[in-house]
Amino acid sequence: MQITQQTTEKSQPSTGATDILHAQQKSWNRFAHGWHKWDDFTMDFLRQQGAAIVEALDVEHDAKVLDVASGTGEPALTLASRAPNGRVTALDASSGMLEVARGKATARGLTNFVAREGDACALPFADASFDAISCRLGFMFFPDVDAAAREMHRVLKPGGLLATTVWAGPQHNPWITTLVGAIKRHLDFPSPPAGAPGMFRCADPDAFAARLRTAGFQVERSQLIGDTMRCHSVAQYWGFMNEVVAPVVATLQGADPSIVAAIEAEVRTTLTPDGASTPPPLAAGAHCFVVRK
Ligand SMILES: C[S@@+](CC[C@H](N)C(=O)[O-])C[C@H]1O[C@@H](n2cnc3c(N)ncnc32)[C@H](O)[C@@H]1O
Repeated sequence: MQITQQTTEKSQPSTGATDILHAQQKSWNRFAHGWHKWDDFTMDFLRQQGAAIVEALDVEHDAKVLDVASGTGEPALTLASRAPNGRVTALDASSGMLEVARGKATARGLTNFVAREGDACALPFADASFDAISCRLGFMFFPDVDAAAREMHRVLKPGGLLATTVWAGPQHNPWITTLVGAIKRHLDFPSPPAGAPGMFRCADPDAFAARLRTAGFQVERSQLIGDTMRCHSVAQYWGFMNEVVAPVVATLQGADPSIVAAIEAEVRTTLTPDGASTPPPLAAGAHCFVVRK
């Protein structure tokens, strides 16, 4: 079921924003296959973040929930199982990612789950449409973080909660810095310009909380969530990073194979210095914010 578009919707994004949106769509559509292939691994890897959001929202059985940047469907699918008499709308800019989400909803027999393509910065819903909103690892990629926060505030009912996670800084995320550190010793790996979409764009918790307040939310709490990436081999780590993590793929695919081999060897030495077959668990830190309209 689709929700009727009303005049309160935000107008079309500006050209720069449109470029960012199209670049994000292209990239996430390209990686939807990898996300599908690595679904169990990824969902396990991000489990604590999902649980924090689901617990914070504590949705009623008949709640109307919006999951923004739902990707392959989490936490929307878990929320749908908690609101059997309600409806969960999974919104994402990537049709490819949503296709995976739809498949998972069907496999689980969830009939209260709707996937809809759209931009977080111009939500295609009327004011005060939802009891609760979730957004796991989305804000960093939106064309305009503040516009997206304002839009979520607009479509949330008064008193409703938004629970969202964003990646914490590099020091909390050895799962990515282990590989990026090795890449940087061999190749150019430019950081995105300040304010541009990227993994650590919202990593300063005070600055991000201030942006949510500016959008009209009251910040009820925030916490650092510690997930863990558990790989049974370096090959598994390497495979995941090369099929799911877009900037890594973009850099390594164009590189000389001998350099890629040197980077892989360095990663192997870092992860298993004593020749052990199993890498140590790798920390993955995110900030979770629970805010009220
Ligand atoms: C890291 S994934 C998170 C997916 C899912 N929430 C999860 O945690 O498994 C980021 C998602 O943000 C989506 N995205 C990027 N820009 C967007 C935008 N402007 N509006 C809506 N979704 C967007 C991407 O398509 C991608 O699916």
